Amino acid sequence: MSNTAFFAPERLIMDQFIIRSYQLDDAPKLNAAANSSYKHLKAFMPWAKPHQTEEEALAIVRRFRGRYLLSEEFVLGIFSPDNQICLGGTGYHLRNGELSNRSAEIGMWIRASHAGQGLGTEVLIALLSWGFEVWPWERLTWRCDGRNIASCRTAEKAGMQLEGVLRGDHRNADGVRIDTYCYGALKSDWELPAKN
Ligand SMILES: CC(C)(COP(=O)(O)OP(=O)(O)OC[C@H]1O[C@@H](n2cnc3c(N)ncnc32)[C@H](O)[C@@H]1OP(=O)(O)O)[C@@H](O)C(=O)NCCC(=O)NCCS
Repeated sequence: MSNTAFFAPERLIMDQFIIRSYQLDDAPKLNAAANSSYKHLKAFMPWAKPHQTEEEALAIVRRFRGRYLLSEEFVLGIFSPDNQICLGGTGYHLRNGELSNRSAEIGMWIRASHAGQGLGTEVLIALLSWGFEVWPWERLTWRCDGRNIASCRTAEKAGMQLEGVLRGDHRNADGVRIDTYCYGALKSDWELPAKN
């Protein structure tokens, strides 16, 4: 499957949220979400900054949209059902090879005001189901810093399997080597997790 021949699905509409490609007029919504979430994001999201300007946000959504249309990278926003509030960001990232390998890594952040309320788990379950049913993915992965309990739990609750731990995988700003936890799900054995 070549990138030029693939037209990515545009949106997934659920009762609690919409997951979709960013549009250019989303810049102020993205900014409101990211700027109000800095403290919540800074430990594990290297791109987080204390204040992002509207111009910077516009440049970001333009790049996201352009690369989406070219099937180079599939960054998605999470929006409220009325499309007015950005609840976070996610995406299928081509970090496991070319599109032809049919494997992507899911990334995610949830806006601080909406975190810890079950949304991240619901979004990840939706991305796994959508990914295996509508997108061409045969394998989806999730990687996180071993100290990121919320992220590890989100992957586990969504039914992904811990496949391994890369010990001392990267070096943080304090010179400490950090473990990376690697989770995966295969289309061939994917089942919706039981509700608890
Ligand atoms: C990781 C993240 C996406 C999870 O989304 P969320 O909506 O907060 O997660 P949920 O509410 O669905 O909770 C999932 C699990 O994580 C736990 N959790 C959530 N926030 C937590 C926190 N701050 N500390 C410890 N556990 C936490 C929940 O309790 C739940 O586990 P449980 O049912 O065993 O109690 C979100 O917290 C986030 O945006 N974090 C900052 C960015 C980030 O780290 N992204 C992931 C990078 S790999």
